[in-house]
Amino acid sequence: MEPYRIAVIVGSLRKDSFNRMMANAVVKLAPSDFSFKQVQIGDLPLYNQDDDANPAESVKRLKGEITASRGLLFVTAEYNRSIPGILKNAIDHASRPYGQSAWAGKPAGVMGVSVGATGTSMAQQHLRNVLAYLDVPTLGQPEAYIQAKEGLFDEAGNIGAGSIKFLQKWMDHYVAWVKKHAA
Ligand code: FNR
Repeated sequence: MEPYRIAVIVGSLRKDSFNRMMANAVVKLAPSDFSFKQVQIGDLPLYNQDDDANPAESVKRLKGEITASRGLLFVTAEYNRSIPGILKNAIDHASRPYGQSAWAGKPAGVMGVSVGATGTSMAQQHLRNVLAYLDVPTLGQPEAYIQAKEGLFDEAGNIGAGSIKFLQKWMDHYVAWVKKHAA
């Protein structure tokens, strides 16, 4: 069976990002017919519609990786109660030129980690709004609003004991969602 190749988009460029740690750890809970690759978004230029006809190499790479994937996994930080600009920039790039969006139809999961108790809930709601417009079917439940606390990850960088049950359930639902909606 052809594996389910998933593009992982992390909404933080920070070296020690909790969200990148989560992206690295949570994919280990997926079955073996799923493979995950984090797409690079930190080297994309600021989106400028004037460049649609002549995109940068980094933009072509991003669009190619999204197009080649069968599903999406967004793991994002929350900045000022919304999604970080670097994530919106990447989404805008791969949505254009008009009519040539790479996102359409790719089933997605959304999760995020923040230091605040609301666990990126506002950012995720904003992201869901954007993804709905882009025709991305997005897993509704369970929601994953995660607070960065001692023990979230173990020393090896895996999900800690207190969160493993919930995140395994999340992954099981995500896997079923992708299988249901993937082309
Ligand atoms: C934040 N942070 C934050 N946290 C939160 O829960 N809600 C918020 O609205 C914000 N806003 C915000 C804005 C900006 C500009 C920064 C730099 C930070 C804190 C944020 O949760 C924390 O920095 C996380 O560590 C970011 O995720 P990464 O980079 O660790 O993945």
